[in-house]
Amino acid sequence: MLDQYGRTIDYIRISVTDRCNLRCVYCMPEKGVEQVGHTDILSYAEIVRLCGIFARLGIRHIKLTGGEPLVRKGLPGLAGEIRSVPGIEDVTLTTNGVLLGEQMEALYEAGVRSVNVSLDTLDADMFQTITRRPLLDRVLDGIRACAAYPGVRLKINCVPLKGVNEDQWARMAEIARDYAVDVRFIELMPIGFGKQYCGETQESIQKRLTEIYGEPEALAGHFGNGPGAYLAYPGFAGRIGFISAVSHKFCSQCNRVRLTAEGYLKLCLQYTDGVDLRGLLRDGRSDREIFLTLQEVIGRKPREHQFAAAAGERFEQHEMYRIGG
Ligand code: 5AD
Ligand code: SF4
Repeated sequence: MLDQYGRTIDYIRISVTDRCNLRCVYCMPEKGVEQVGHTDILSYAEIVRLCGIFARLGIRHIKLTGGEPLVRKGLPGLAGEIRSVPGIEDVTLTTNGVLLGEQMEALYEAGVRSVNVSLDTLDADMFQTITRRPLLDRVLDGIRACAAYPGVRLKINCVPLKGVNEDQWARMAEIARDYAVDVRFIELMPIGFGKQYCGETQESIQKRLTEIYGEPEALAGHFGNGPGAYLAYPGFAGRIGFISAVSHKFCSQCNRVRLTAEGYLKLCLQYTDGVDLRGLLRDGRSDREIFLTLQEVIGRKPREHQFAAAAGERFEQHEMYRIGG
């Protein structure tokens, strides 16, 4: 469907849980995580029902996210059910990779053909500093398990943080040199604990990579469902991407909305505006009523985020693991 600014909205990110088996410093607190209760989050049946309505609205692509989606039991089964909803073209996953080794086969059988793994460093000590868990090897096993399926598109997402993983960019980029994998640098957004850190800019990373690997070729067109800018470095098997939501704002091409684990449909990462779909579902509203509400609500999706401007109360105060990264 089109929103009020004529953007085609055909993509939704669905957070299936706010729980996570890591505690990344820019995303979650070390202790005292406020957890949402089991009955507060949408059941799989509720999510599948909503996907049918989303599909009728023109949503074609679904990304399952969290928290960490693979900590919720039976996630591959949910992916398979959504995959068979008429109108849905693909179901993809964003994961921290810890449980990917165990679940990759089931995900493949469910029809998942694109997986994003978040990984900020290849150094085990630094991994533990950033995620507060000593699980780098599990993530690398997960990445290998995924890479063993040539039909699955694999992307590695790295959040570059000043003074934290600075010496890792070239090492991360080497993954794309050696394998047909896209390595993407995700600009830190000033959300939740992210406000306490300083992200590195696209320009300085690109400059550093260019010094080492030579001039890249800028690739036109879109790969996947997102707003990335992609570069081909000489001799690289995969691409290097940059997702820079703040410094290279792509709101005018935004194609997405988000569903939190609690069933709140969010129109934009930054704003709280949206609709409580869990309330509508549990109030016994019909698919038709929910469809009409969504049509109206998605239609008023905000023009753009104001991350660069001062924060206000209309702005999102929740942490990333509550929103779905
Ligand atoms: N800015 C950018 N990315 C973030 N993530 C979590 N918090 C932030 C933030 N403030 C990313 C994680 C992971 C995904 C779920 O969201 O690194 O890739
Ligand atoms: Fe978990 Fe992702 Fe947040 Fe890290 S960034 S704590 S992996 S949800």
